[in-house]
Amino acid sequence: MDDPTPEVADQEAPSSGIAKAQPEVGPPLVEMVNVWKRFGQGAGETVALAGVDLAIQPGEFVTLIGPSGCGKSTLFNMIAGLTDTDSDGSVVFKNKPQRDGELLGKVSFMPQKDLLFAWRTVLDNATLALEIEGVPRAKARARAEAMFPEFGLAGFEKHYPHQLSGGMRQRVALMRTFLFERELMLLDEPFGALDALTRAMMQRWLLEIWEKHRRTVLFITHDIDEAIFLGDKVVVMTARPGRIKTVETIDLPRPRGAEVITSPEFIEIKRRLLGIVEEESLKSFASAGAS
Ligand SMILES: Nc1ncnc2c1ncn2[C@@H]1O[C@H](COP(=O)(O)OP(=O)(O)OP(=O)(O)O)[C@@H](O)[C@H]1O
Ligand SMILES: [Mg+2]
Repeated sequence: MDDPTPEVADQEAPSSGIAKAQPEVGPPLVEMVNVWKRFGQGAGETVALAGVDLAIQPGEFVTLIGPSGCGKSTLFNMIAGLTDTDSDGSVVFKNKPQRDGELLGKVSFMPQKDLLFAWRTVLDNATLALEIEGVPRAKARARAEAMFPEFGLAGFEKHYPHQLSGGMRQRVALMRTFLFERELMLLDEPFGALDALTRAMMQRWLLEIWEKHRRTVLFITHDIDEAIFLGDKVVVMTARPGRIKTVETIDLPRPRGAEVITSPEFIEIKRRLLGIVEEESLKSFASAGAS
């Protein structure tokens, strides 16, 4: 056999060409096994996820892309322990299937909206998760303060969110997620609201931080360039009901700088993924039009 180590059991089209699947060692940090999610009942039922199988290895940076409404945030809510899976399947964390709510607090999670509290200073927004966890305020503040320079926010500790730019607010939300030190970080479109230039800067900055801290990251985006630039793997989901369409291993060398996106390898991966993502987006529009 050419490829004895397929990454995902129900992968529709195996990765080909540039990216060769690396043999993976050890058990995954988190694994979704036949995960389904249905909302509502009868005529009002929405099948959000329909049998998702996906394994994330420790230390990987995995990007997730798929049409709007295909269940990406729902998947994140499940991994964060905020939403239960239907009874068909399970989320396995460190080899242990997780029951209702058991995952709460085990992963750090940046939701799709940055959710900064307007009445709290930047510093007090950053320490929120630590305080909820029971870390004494002074200790939480000291830990957060030490991270301000790294996140480009030194001097802004006492500012309020409305006094910051969009990019700075995103960095505060990211800092809060980093401060909640868990092996797995879920980032739901963290740069979605940013202009292209700020976004490109934030991507390079995030990679630098990631190279240093090496947490396992699962990152949702609508931007194919972003997915390829950041990821060790790009996971493409189908239109709703969401399944894993394909997993592309991104073999571009690290550390990655701005020049990567103009390399022939990058362009070839993008060409291949664009075709797949566009096909699914069209299906998504077609079904929205039909309903
Ligand atoms: N709490 C809920 N109750 C009912 N339906 C829900 C709920 N949460 C999500 N859905 C439905 O599940 C589907 C998937 O939603 P989800 O937010 O996961 O999509 P998404 O892929 O994150 O989309 P986007 O890219 O627009 O953020 C949608 O049809 C949505 O309407
Ligand atoms: Mg979403």
